[in-house]
Amino acid sequence: MALVAIAVAVLSGPAPKDAARADAPPKTSDVDAEARIDALLSQMTLEEKIGQLTQQFGGRHLDANPQVAEGVQEDLRDAIRSGRVGSLLGAHGAEYTNAIQRVAVEESRLRIPLILGNDVIHGYRTVIPIPLGEAASWDCDLAERTARMAAAEARAAGTHWTFAPMVDITRDPRWGRIVEGSGEDPYLSSALAEARVRGFQGVSLAAPDAVLACAKHYVAYGGAEAGRDYNTVDCSERRLRELYLPPFHAAVRAGCGTLMTAFNDLNGVPATANQFTLERILRQEWGFAGFVVSDWNSIGELVVHGYAADPKDAAEKALRAGVDMDMCSLAYRGHLGERVKQGALPEALIDRSVRRILRAKLALGLFDNPYTDPKLEAKVLLCDAHRQLARESAARSIVLLKNDGGVLPLKKDIPRLAVIGPLADNSRDPLGTWAGIGRWEDVVTVLAGIQEAVAKGTRVHHVPGCEIDMEIPGGIEAAVETAREADAAVLVLGESESMSGEAHCRATLDLPAAQERLLQAVCAAGKPVVVVLLNGRPLSIRWAAEHVPAIVEAWHPGVECGHAVADVLFGDVNPGGKLPVTFPRAVGQVPICYNHKNTGRPPSDDRFTSKYIDLPTTPLFPFGHGLSYTTFAFRDLTVTPEEIGPAGTVEVSVTVVNTGDRSGDEVAQLYIRDPVASVTRPVRELKGFRRISLKPGESQRVTFALEPEHLGFYDAHMEYVVEPGSFHVWVGTSSAAGLEGAFEVKAR
Ligand code: NOJ
Repeated sequence: MALVAIAVAVLSGPAPKDAARADAPPKTSDVDAEARIDALLSQMTLEEKIGQLTQQFGGRHLDANPQVAEGVQEDLRDAIRSGRVGSLLGAHGAEYTNAIQRVAVEESRLRIPLILGNDVIHGYRTVIPIPLGEAASWDCDLAERTARMAAAEARAAGTHWTFAPMVDITRDPRWGRIVEGSGEDPYLSSALAEARVRGFQGVSLAAPDAVLACAKHYVAYGGAEAGRDYNTVDCSERRLRELYLPPFHAAVRAGCGTLMTAFNDLNGVPATANQFTLERILRQEWGFAGFVVSDWNSIGELVVHGYAADPKDAAEKALRAGVDMDMCSLAYRGHLGERVKQGALPEALIDRSVRRILRAKLALGLFDNPYTDPKLEAKVLLCDAHRQLARESAARSIVLLKNDGGVLPLKKDIPRLAVIGPLADNSRDPLGTWAGIGRWEDVVTVLAGIQEAVAKGTRVHHVPGCEIDMEIPGGIEAAVETAREADAAVLVLGESESMSGEAHCRATLDLPAAQERLLQAVCAAGKPVVVVLLNGRPLSIRWAAEHVPAIVEAWHPGVECGHAVADVLFGDVNPGGKLPVTFPRAVGQVPICYNHKNTGRPPSDDRFTSKYIDLPTTPLFPFGHGLSYTTFAFRDLTVTPEEIGPAGTVEVSVTVVNTGDRSGDEVAQLYIRDPVASVTRPVRELKGFRRISLKPGESQRVTFALEPEHLGFYDAHMEYVVEPGSFHVWVGTSSAAGLEGAFEVKAR
C-alpha cells in the first residue's frame, strides 16, 4: 500500500516538455505579428471585430457553379464586404474560394482575409480509411503522412483550416461518431492526435500544403449517455482528466492551432460555455494560445440546454467562457455588440478573441498570400502518389480478426471464387462518413479489386445476395447457388456509410438482419467462407465469429478499398492492424473497454460476482487484437531497474520473433497496472506500442521507457501523483496477452 504520495505535477497532469506557454517571450516574428494586429485592432469598428468572431456557411461547390465569381451569393458577399464575417465553412475549390476571398481582400474596408474551414476528416478528394480504421494501423508515421496528404489537397482547393483531428474517446460503439475518433484508449488516441496535428500543420502553416488543425470536440463528447449523439455527459473530474482530456492535451502540445467545443452538457455546464474546461484547464493549465470555435450552432443551443435564457445570454456566456468564434449560430453577430454598448460586456474580451483569430490568419500567411494557386488543385487532388498512400493506409488499417485453418490468404489462381454481399460491388459506402469531397466514381470496389488481382483463368462470380438492410427476392438463393459452384466465397458485409457518423447512432450492433440471413445461408453451402467487413464501428458478429473461419475487418477504407482488400485477401500484404476498440459480443455489454476497474467481485465461477447470467463478460475480440499470416513470439522480457524513485524511468524490453514463414508486422503493446493505490486503478493501461516488420526467422529487441507521465494518476485531491508500490507490466500482442514483469516505485 502506498504510504507517501509524491506529487509530480499539479492538476494538468504530467508537465509537457514542449508545451507552448502563453507567457513565453514572443519571437521577433511574433512581435511583428502583434504590431500588425495592434494596428488593425485600432482601426476596427466594434462590428468589424465581432465579424472576425463570426463564421457562416459559405458553401458552394465549384462543379455545381461554373459562374463562380457571380456564384457568391449577394447576402454573403455583403456580409464579407462589410466585415461582418471573418470565416466561412463549406467553400470548396480554388476558383470559388479565390472568388470569395477576393471580396474580403479587395472589397472590405480593412482587407482582412477570410479563414476558410472544412471537415477534412479522412482525406479530402483522396479518401483514406475512416479515422477509427486508420487507428487500427497503430502507425503514427502513417497517420502523419495521410494528414499531410489531406492538407496538401485541401489547401490546394482553398481550405485553410480543417475541423480535425477528432480526438473524442468513447467506450460506446452505439455512438455513431466512434467512426471519427481513434477508439477507446487515451494513450493510443493521444499518439495519433499528435501525429495528425503535425501532419496537417506541417512545419509552416503558410506553406501551400499545410492547414490549421482543430482538435474536437472539447470535451467528453464521446461519453454521451446511452451512446446517443448530443446526449448528456456526467463524469468525474478524474475520468475527464484521465480518459477524455489526454488526447486534447497531446494535440495542444503538438501545437494544434484551434479547438472546437462539443455539443454536450458536461456535468451540468454545456461544453460550449464551460469555464472549467475552457478557461481553467485549456488556457491556464495548458497555456493554449490558439483560438476556440464553437460547434455548429452550439452557442444557440445553450438556450435549448437550459443554460442560457436567450441567444443574447448564450452569446455572452460562450464568449466569457472563452469561445472565440461562433460557428453558424450568428448569436455573436446578433448580440455581442449590444452587450458591449450597454456596458455589460468588456470590449477587451472581444479584442482578446479577435487577436487570437488574426494571429491564426497571419500564421497561415493569408495577409500576404490570401489566394490559392489555381493550377495546384488539378495537379494534387487524387494524384498517383496520393492513391498509392491511400492504398497503403487502407491495407495497414485492416485487422485480421480470425483465420482458422489458414483459409487466408487465398490463392490467386483459385479456379472459381464467389464474391457475395451488398458491399462487394458497392462504390459509395466504402468512402465512409465525412468523406470530404470524395466521389463514388473514384472508389475501387472490393469486386473490382479482386477481379484485378486474380489469375487470368480464375472465374469470379458476383451476386449481391441482399441489400444492406433489406432482402431482395431470390437474392439469398442465388447467393447460395453461386457459393456452391465456387471453390471459396468472399462475403462482403457490414454497414452503409450512413449507419455511422454524426447523428447516426444505433441501438443494436448486429449485422442488419438481411445480411445475417445471407451469411448463415451461404455458410451452409459448405464452402470455405471469408467475411470481409466494411463498417464504421465495432459490430457484435457473434454468429460469424463462431462459424466463419476467416474474418477480415477492413472498416470503410476509402477510395482504394478494393485494392487494399485484395492485397490482404491474396497475401500481397500481410495484415498487421490491431483493434483500437473492443468488439462486444452483444450490445448489452456496452459500455465495454479493456481498461476497466477490477471491482470487488471480478467475474468468476462464483455466483455473486460481476457478470451476466446470459453472456460472458469478456469481449468478442479484445482491444489490441489482430492476427497475421505469420506467427510471432515474445521472449526475454526485462525490466530495468527493478526499483525506481517516483521521478525515475524504467526500461522495459522484449524480443519479438517472427516464428512463421512469411514477412509480417506485429505491434508490441506495453501495458501496466498499479495494483494497489490510494485510488483504484484499471486492470491494464496501454503505455507504449510499436509496430515492427519482421522477415521469417527475424527478431527485434523492442524497448519502452516508462516515465512518471505513464505511471501516475489523479489522487483524491486531484493531484497528479506517482505512488510508491509495485507495478505490473506486460508486453504482448493484445490487451489480453503478454509476458509479465514487475518493478517497484520506492519513496525517496
Ligand atoms: C458539426 C460537427 O459536430 C462538427 O464535427 C463539424 O466540424 C461541424 N458540424 C462543421 O461541419
